[in-house]
Amino acid sequence: MRSTLVSQFGDPRQVIALVDAERLPPGPGEVEIALCLAAINPSDLIPVTGAYSARTSLPFVPGFEGVGTVSRVGAGVTTLKPGDRVIPIGASGLWQQYLLRPADWCFLVPDDIDDRQAAVSYVNPLTALRLIEALRAHFGSLAGRRIGVTAAGSAIGGMLMKLISGEGAEPVGIVRSERSAVRLAAETAGEIVVADEGNIPSPLDFDAILDAVGGPFAGDLIGQTLQPGAAFIQYGALSGVPVPIPAIQARADVRFSFLWLRTWVHAAGRPSIEAAFAASFAGLRSGLFSSRIAQTYPLSRLDEALAHQADPKRDGKLLLDTRC
Ligand SMILES: NC(=O)c1ccc[n+]([C@@H]2O[C@H](COP(=O)([O-])OP(=O)(O)OC[C@H]3O[C@@H](n4cnc5c(N)ncnc54)[C@H](OP(=O)(O)O)[C@@H]3O)[C@@H](O)[C@H]2O)c1
Repeated sequence: MRSTLVSQFGDPRQVIALVDAERLPPGPGEVEIALCLAAINPSDLIPVTGAYSARTSLPFVPGFEGVGTVSRVGAGVTTLKPGDRVIPIGASGLWQQYLLRPADWCFLVPDDIDDRQAAVSYVNPLTALRLIEALRAHFGSLAGRRIGVTAAGSAIGGMLMKLISGEGAEPVGIVRSERSAVRLAAETAGEIVVADEGNIPSPLDFDAILDAVGGPFAGDLIGQTLQPGAAFIQYGALSGVPVPIPAIQARADVRFSFLWLRTWVHAAGRPSIEAAFAASFAGLRSGLFSSRIAQTYPLSRLDEALAHQADPKRDGKLLLDTRC
């Protein structure tokens, strides 16, 4: 079967190989899924670079998000049958034609959610919901709070802007270019500012920041924009650089935390994850969690897809069609 493999850490465009892999039968408790679409997310590529080498074993098949149809079931599986459309989660491995996964880690997709929506219904919607929960845990009610969202032009950034508005709070989308600001303004309500390292417009003040950029830019925001008692939640590092420790140490009056979906998923238990998927599917129906899809590539043209993913002018999510 068509598959991909990372055998050494490095630049994703250099080290993710297209390979022909053996198709194995499902073991007890497992199902085989004939995958159809998988997303390309920043969080798929970061482990490939070796950024999390302490908790990433080589070799591995990348891809954390996608959708497919159960093709075979192993002994003892009673909850799924061939033909069921599912989202398999809990480990990487979706950038290939067939995937073996414990039935307990597969979640049924309602019939009215199409494959393209289902393929992006997991990582960003569930993380956005967790981030709002984390803000609620800090503030109680979010009503009236000013909340900054960095990299607001990203797929999850747009979701966060809408969710924050829905809580009665004031979202402020922070983007790095006028081009992103124009695109975001067409899609979401709320204030939008263009800012980058060494260039924070003033006055800018926040009760909380949800940060996916990190690096010196996050340090500037922490030093210059957070109110006493504010929350700073980091959930990404698109700059490739951590938040500077001195910036954190200088703000004893701010609550700092990290949020990783993966940590929650492995602790939450199936009923909580099912409830989160139900919220995601509802958000897909209403448009709250819709993601712009820029292009779908056959898996066999992975090199083109990865080149497009690295293009700063990319205008939406890329999907891989794992069937061809
Ligand atoms: N912690 C978790 O569990 C978790 C879960 C989901 C996502 N995330 C993180 O959330 C972030 C966004 O993910 P996504 O899937 O929404 O990404 P995406 O849709 O691929 O969007 C990435 C966008 O972010 C903006 N961007 C990239 N680098 C930037 C930088 N250095 N400074 C400012 N903006 C930058 C760019 O938008 P413009 O072209 O508009 O500037 C880029 O198009 C990633 O860091 C990802 O790892 C984390």
